[in-house]
Amino acid sequence: MADKDNIKETKDYGVGIPQATNGFHVKGCNNYGWGMKSRLSKIFNPQSGRTLMLAFDHGYFLGPTSGLERLDLKIPPLAPYIDVFMGTRGALSACIEPALSYQKAVALRCSSGSSILNDDLSFEKVSVSIEEAVRMNADCMAIQVFIGAKGQLSSIENVSKAIDTGNSYGIPTMGVVAVGKEMERTPQYFRLATRMIAEFGAQIVKCYYCDDFETVTASCPVPIVIAGGKKLPEKEALDMCYNALARGAAGVDMGRNIFQSDAPVAMVQAVRAIVHDGIDSKEAYDMYQELKNK
Ligand code: R5P
Repeated sequence: MADKDNIKETKDYGVGIPQATNGFHVKGCNNYGWGMKSRLSKIFNPQSGRTLMLAFDHGYFLGPTSGLERLDLKIPPLAPYIDVFMGTRGALSACIEPALSYQKAVALRCSSGSSILNDDLSFEKVSVSIEEAVRMNADCMAIQVFIGAKGQLSSIENVSKAIDTGNSYGIPTMGVVAVGKEMERTPQYFRLATRMIAEFGAQIVKCYYCDDFETVTASCPVPIVIAGGKKLPEKEALDMCYNALARGAAGVDMGRNIFQSDAPVAMVQAVRAIVHDGIDSKEAYDMYQELKNK
């Protein structure tokens, strides 16, 4: 193993030089089989190369989050504007009609193991079998990864197990970078965590936006989608989406900044326009206000 004392902070990220994709529109995923690529093509639009995931998996450790007290009321009106439902099997099967998944992908939350009642959230297990992921028609399995936390080893085992079984069935794995007490939200931390997850073999990595984000995306050989994080004023959330995409993110996996918005249906359309239509955040905010006031 390399000596960690001799690892210097390098700066040669090749920012601005795209990684060769060899004909497949999803970065780093050209060498997979047909089924895996088909699922990735449901997630990442082949025209824009991007994705808009709606995250509503918060209840798996938080219970009924503000804005998600009633999944059956909140999620269906947002469905026409998203590419991917990201939720638990319980939320999907109880609250989302299967017909709503027409031309949509499913990112199935497949890890759990702690709750807000625990001081340390970093110990999880893979909590959905591969057979169940197939039954749920999952297009990827989302596994939380806690780099630098007490539960690091078990979460690496979890994501590795999901990748092993997912690869056998042609189902991608999305490693979700966790943040917490031991994990700083710095470019150094996110470069480390995203790169580790990609090297474990995850086909997609989810992480938070940060300064120098272009170095995080450049040094991660598979697509990164950003988490939305806590609710921001709408303009700031739209700025974050725009900046993340401009700095190499392949999409957003946003929850609270959509469903806790004053006007969630207007907000999801504004986010979508940034992701797929290439408008900037000022135009998107104007669009949000216009739709909100209709
Ligand atoms: C991340 O750990 C989980 O997937 C969250 O439930 C989800 O990412 C949160 O989305 P947001 O931060 O946009 O509300």
